[in-house]
Amino acid sequence: MTARVPVSTGPDARRDGARSALVWDTLQRVVATRAGQAGRAALDIVDVGGGTGGFAVPFAALGHNVTVVDPSPDALAGAQRRAAERQVRLAAVQGDADGLDHLVGDGAADLVICHSVLEYVDEPAAAMAAIARVLRPGATVSVLAANAVSAVLHRALAGRYDQARDLLAALDGAGEASADGRRRYTLAGLTALIEGAGLRADEAYGVRVFAGLLPAADPDPGAAAALAVLEDAAAAYPALRDIAARLHVLGHR
Ligand SMILES: C[S@@+](CC[C@H](N)C(=O)[O-])C[C@H]1O[C@@H](n2cnc3c(N)ncnc32)[C@H](O)[C@@H]1O
Repeated sequence: MTARVPVSTGPDARRDGARSALVWDTLQRVVATRAGQAGRAALDIVDVGGGTGGFAVPFAALGHNVTVVDPSPDALAGAQRRAAERQVRLAAVQGDADGLDHLVGDGAADLVICHSVLEYVDEPAAAMAAIARVLRPGATVSVLAANAVSAVLHRALAGRYDQARDLLAALDGAGEASADGRRRYTLAGLTALIEGAGLRADEAYGVRVFAGLLPAADPDPGAAAALAVLEDAAAAYPALRDIAARLHVLGHR
């Protein structure tokens, strides 16, 4: 018999508004599909570079077995505090993405979450290869990363033409650009990284297509709601997705 997983909304969906709500909804769908395929309601989820548990804790609250792996002891302590506040169990392991398989084991996960981490790891290909080893057959990695194209666009629209040009020049043939101590990707680059680890990349979404381009938040609550609906509609529309501040791509083993 499978355990019943209670329904709950991710707290980050409320905290971060449209930014996380779109990603959260996609992951909820991935988890529901995987649970059906695996015949288990409680999945094994690893959040690599999971920070203070913004996604990990809500998944743990839904009854899943969640492990956060992060090199930062402060981040892990924050994740455990957040889990304690919600009275849920969370495993917290200190370590780097490129050693993930040694930390949690080969074939240990139904879902690996890798959000806003590839920007900072030393070797993204090694990190993605370790993630691929941790995935069970049919399991999914959720990758969220900064979009290099959007960063160029934002700088140009802010009148920082030299910075925009430098960032564009830093964009290599692999669709990767490193600047300001941070790596960014094009959609083609992120897809190639995932597929280079032997995974199949399929769904891709843009997160914050418009929000980052607007000068300031409109105080009208109706405008915020309308913007969220617009972001939702634009997320999978290729030309708009490709200029979003962040790219969300799913890879499957
Ligand atoms: C911008 S935060 C993202 C946190 C969380 N994933 C989120 O989306 O809110 C980046 C996280 O990556 C972690 N990190 C940095 N280098 C890493 C590495 N080599 N392997 C795994 N995590 C790393 C940092 O400690 C930090 O918690």
